[in-house]
Amino acid sequence: MAIKKERRDFLGMALGGFTALGGIAALGAAKRTWDPLPSVMAAGFSTIDLSAAKPNSLYVAKWRGKPIFILKKTSDMKKDPREVIVDGSRYLICIGICTHLGCIPSYFPKQHKFICACHGGQYDSNGYVTKSPPPLPLYIPPFKLKGTKVVIGEEGPEFKKLKAAGLTV
Ligand code: FES
Repeated sequence: MAIKKERRDFLGMALGGFTALGGIAALGAAKRTWDPLPSVMAAGFSTIDLSAAKPNSLYVAKWRGKPIFILKKTSDMKKDPREVIVDGSRYLICIGICTHLGCIPSYFPKQHKFICACHGGQYDSNGYVTKSPPPLPLYIPPFKLKGTKVVIGEEGPEFKKLKAAGLTV
């Protein structure tokens, strides 16, 4: 009798264990279904290390299919509340798409300006329009600073401050 009870206990525990494992596996499978695909995750954020950035050289990164302009400023470039300080250096970080009709402006280092070849719009080294037709400055993408790195696509405190001041547009 005692042997039968022990056997029943063992079977009960084994069945309970299998049920628990099945439940965990089902939860894991459900989570994998809810999680975005790795390609979507990768497209959501771009991490750029600025430690090797050279002043007045435009670095172009890619975020969600858009060009991101990163320009390390030289000391003679005008200071601006839109600039981002990374490791003691000043940067312009903006989306490299003209706010007129969406062309990609080119950077002219000698003139410290961006010129859009489509209709002649121009922007200064802070991304402000200096020659129409663009109606707005170059947009600042969501970003977060992590040491010498900038993560594009994540809203960090510096971005939130600019956004609250209406300076990202
Ligand atoms: S698209 Fe840039 S000036 Fe028109």
